[in-house]
Amino acid sequence: MTDMKTNAEMIGRDEINDLEAVLSVTTPDDGALAAAVESEFDTIFTWDYEKGSRPKLNRLYEKAKTSMWNAETDLDWSIEVDQEEVVRNNTIANPGLMNATADMTGTPFEKWGDKEWLEVGVESQNWMLSQFLHGEQGALVCTARIVESVPWIDAKYYAATQVMDEARHVEVFAKYIDTKLSGHYPVNAHLKMLLDDIIQDSRWDMTYLGMQIMVEGLALAAFGFIHQLTTEPLLKKMLRYVMSDEARHVAFGVLSLQDYYLELTQAELRERQEFAFEAAVRMRDRFLQQEVWERMGVPVKDAVEMVLKAPEREMFQTMLFSKIVPNCKKLGLLDAGDGWLRTKFGELGVIQFEHWADTGEEYEMFALANGEAPAA
Ligand SMILES: [Fe+2]
Ligand SMILES: [Fe+2]
Repeated sequence: MTDMKTNAEMIGRDEINDLEAVLSVTTPDDGALAAAVESEFDTIFTWDYEKGSRPKLNRLYEKAKTSMWNAETDLDWSIEVDQEEVVRNNTIANPGLMNATADMTGTPFEKWGDKEWLEVGVESQNWMLSQFLHGEQGALVCTARIVESVPWIDAKYYAATQVMDEARHVEVFAKYIDTKLSGHYPVNAHLKMLLDDIIQDSRWDMTYLGMQIMVEGLALAAFGFIHQLTTEPLLKKMLRYVMSDEARHVAFGVLSLQDYYLELTQAELRERQEFAFEAAVRMRDRFLQQEVWERMGVPVKDAVEMVLKAPEREMFQTMLFSKIVPNCKKLGLLDAGDGWLRTKFGELGVIQFEHWADTGEEYEMFALANGEAPAA
């Protein structure tokens, strides 16, 4: 058995909810247009070309071939987006997301009126879509890496289709931000740390765990939430399309790792558990959207504390884990080594999702229906 790692060793702080420590990690905006991350890994050739020796992956691959859509022609880019109007409509449709009706006496928001709250709503859109964009690029590079590093031909085939999917996702988010929104944000520091951790790990299955299970699982839940919430028709349709791909991607992770984890020792599984926990914390930290409050010029800690008190906000924070937890369970990660990860997810307040459907089974549900699907 490996030594028990402390929270400080895994996530850089003892207390998961230490807000001050979370907010002290910031994005240096140096204006650079590229960032290099060093990594070393084995590129694996396989001489076993037997297609379909992993039938579930083969089925996924065949499904992917017929599910491609075209970002330029399948979405109606002529739709005009009035961001302030969208914020107003979203607020009417979903009361309670912002705590704007709470008593602000004695807080930095005491003097704020509709104008400022509207501005926060607009900046939140810019921020959220920017982080989705950066996450999509992370998926693009990670799946290109999986093509090289995974030893099975069926997985290489499938991953190649995902590379194309992710290129399309980067393309649509970039286009949406550039043509419909009013600004963009650099990658959030917590998200960047997570992407770097995934890329720096030389083991191919860690790329899968970090990207396919954790980042993609969170994206699928977050896209679903925004898809449901937004009143903006172009974004709604775009997310619907993206989700139909993402569900396959998470299934790819579950179906691949399920086989592989059977070969691992308890000590090796523990390392995977720790990695999953670390990733979960990083992703939760990123959603505090500290950069929005910095841009608004208010004390970040006060703002974040205020937002965290909004009841629907808390629901959003936990809903983000509604795919990750059942998928970790399916992989045996919750229960390995006396249920270490179960305890940790309990501390994070997300263990209640363990009985929800895992994505290894439900990806068909996300497929585009006839008529909704792109023209063949
Ligand atoms: Fe994606
Ligand atoms: Fe994806």
